[in-house]
Amino acid sequence: MKTIYSAIQPSGIMTLGNYIGAVNNWRAMQSDEDNKCIFALADLHTITVRQNPLEFNKNCWSFYALLLAVGLDVKKSVVYLQSHVAQHSELAWLLNCYTYVGEMNRMTQFKDKSAKHADNINMGLMDYPVLMAADILLYDTDLVPVGYDQLQHIEITRDIALRVNNLYGDIFKVPEGFIPKVGAKIMSLQDPTSKMSKSDPNPNAVISCLDAPEVIMKKFKRAVTDSDATIAYDPENKAGISNLLGILAVVEGKTIEQTVAECSGMRYGDLKVRVGESVIETLRPFREEYERLINSKDYLIACAKEGAQKAAEIAEKTLKRFKSAIGYII
Ligand code: TYM
Repeated sequence: MKTIYSAIQPSGIMTLGNYIGAVNNWRAMQSDEDNKCIFALADLHTITVRQNPLEFNKNCWSFYALLLAVGLDVKKSVVYLQSHVAQHSELAWLLNCYTYVGEMNRMTQFKDKSAKHADNINMGLMDYPVLMAADILLYDTDLVPVGYDQLQHIEITRDIALRVNNLYGDIFKVPEGFIPKVGAKIMSLQDPTSKMSKSDPNPNAVISCLDAPEVIMKKFKRAVTDSDATIAYDPENKAGISNLLGILAVVEGKTIEQTVAECSGMRYGDLKVRVGESVIETLRPFREEYERLINSKDYLIACAKEGAQKAAEIAEKTLKRFKSAIGYII
């Protein structure tokens, strides 16, 4: 049995990048009976950037509903809100005392976010990877399916786990990241040299999992490509076209080679329409199920509470193991 753990922040919108890089793989992993899957809404991480309370609350409901709509099955997986399981905050505090300021200062995401939110470089922003380590380590996780941008945080999680284990014996399982071969970094449709990001102010750069079909098609038709006319997978020199080919391969469940073979010789405009159509068909059932679920708040809260209860049971055991090793009276 392998334990799979991952999480997503309820901030902004759930993008096609989140779906392809992460959530799509979560759903696939939950159908393997040898996997124990635990997925969280990382709502404690979200307040590292100032949130409007009403909007934040709406996003929490919306992301939770969308996780279920996309196919996370509460009968197979534990799907909960991080803030409902107090052990995350407690373990984060303990792990803080085993993590160096220098390590946190070097984190790429911390540097990027500090530059972006220069007026609010709070302690939480710096401590973000320690909370993420706590998330992962609480569940004796084997594999963490994430997109490329989270790899550095998995590395530091491993470092912290090994440091604690060196001091106290076998306390934490040392997890591995799982990065998909294709789709680990879906790029912006307007600037294919930068990541498709939830918080991009340009709506044309990002596909939301809840975008209407005509909006999706319009965004793909406007996608920035290049001035040469050959379809080839070459992320370095043909970032825009390679991004479209990567998206198409994942949503159609094909390899890059198959996709390139099918699309070679197409005009760019036709490729854009083909990608648009496939993405529309992939997202359509999610959007319909979402519309149903978002109006069933009682059901959502019941699922979230049950998830939190199951998560807390596992988390408490790990936390006790660590506290006892440190010397706390349990
Ligand atoms: P977040 O909410 O930014 O993103 C959720 C997941 O989506 C992936 N992702 C992408 N993948 C491919 N292309 C993109 N353009 C793209 N954008 C985002 C991310 O890599 C991620 O897997 N800190 C995390 C949440 C978190 C977490 C955890 C993850 C909190 N605790 C424990 C794993 C384990 C975050 O902010 O992800």
